[in-house]
Amino acid sequence: SRLFKNNKCQILGGGSNILFIEDFKGLVIDINIKGIKYAEVTKEHVTIEAGAGELWHDFVSTCLLNKFYGLENLALIPGKIGAAPVQNIGAYGVEQKDFFVSLEGFDLTTHQKKIMLADECRFSYRDSVFKNNLRDKFIITSVNYKLKKQEEPNISYKELAEEFARYPDLKPGATDIFDTVIRLRTKKMPIAGKLGNAGSFFKNPIVTKKKYDYMLSKETDFPGYVTDDGMVKIPAAWLIERSGWKGQRIGDAGVFDNHALILVNHGNATGEQILTLAENIKKSVMDNFGISLEFEVNIV
Ligand code: EPU
Repeated sequence: SRLFKNNKCQILGGGSNILFIEDFKGLVIDINIKGIKYAEVTKEHVTIEAGAGELWHDFVSTCLLNKFYGLENLALIPGKIGAAPVQNIGAYGVEQKDFFVSLEGFDLTTHQKKIMLADECRFSYRDSVFKNNLRDKFIITSVNYKLKKQEEPNISYKELAEEFARYPDLKPGATDIFDTVIRLRTKKMPIAGKLGNAGSFFKNPIVTKKKYDYMLSKETDFPGYVTDDGMVKIPAAWLIERSGWKGQRIGDAGVFDNHALILVNHGNATGEQILTLAENIKKSVMDNFGISLEFEVNIV
């Protein structure tokens, strides 16, 4: 614990959502705690405890193989289990918070082990207490999820619904969703390890219905999805593409050809150059639409 006291800490949960803009002067901790345990099994549910160092996608695959359902929409998300609550990872209509029960970790302020329930984690869209008050002050060591023993496929996400509408005779199951999500993600995301990227670089901005209606009166194809609390989520990718950035590059820092929300490193861009590109994009979306984009990626 003296090591923790005397050094600034940067915790990695795979590192796939972090942009380093300079060398980090402190302790970098790469979490490697393994293990998957079935903590409690009832007729309808199972509670699974996973070590923070397990790879997220492998965990999702293991759950599905064991016929524990719910996480299949979150296939192929990079990173480790411990990072999932930090970002409150989400995709294709599901967020990890929908199945989250609790987590265990080590509080770097009190130097005590601590269990945290969902409420204390303050999950919201790509956000949690671990990105705010507890940023770099808490090491997540394991996470508990409660999954279903019956399949309850969720194809509410537009792109998934459209995909399955092409096969009206198919009643999609969890494995179909898992396979489809993998296919869709593979089509539009860069191949892992080939082209450096951190997934979506920006969050999708959320505006009031009034502001959205005003936008719609100017441009009739302005996309937006009403959220549970009556606000409207706008695809940042659309704003970026409309601002002319898709496929552009400044040196080796670029916007991915197949998806405007993903910034890529074509080779030797520095973290700072990626950040400059991101700031230019942010500025031009502000100039064109009066909408402020927020980074999803953690800048260190
Ligand atoms: N679009 C464009 N141009 C593009 C790509 C997309 O205009 O180049 C528009 C289209 O209108 C499309 C809409 O954006 O319908 C939404 O695109 P997509 O379904 O690909 O989703 P997204 O909003 O860009 C979010 C998450 C992803 C997640 C997908 C699927 C955020 C910031 N990103 O992206 O999460 O995989 O939905 O659910 O919420 C991540 O967080 O790193 C991530 C990849």
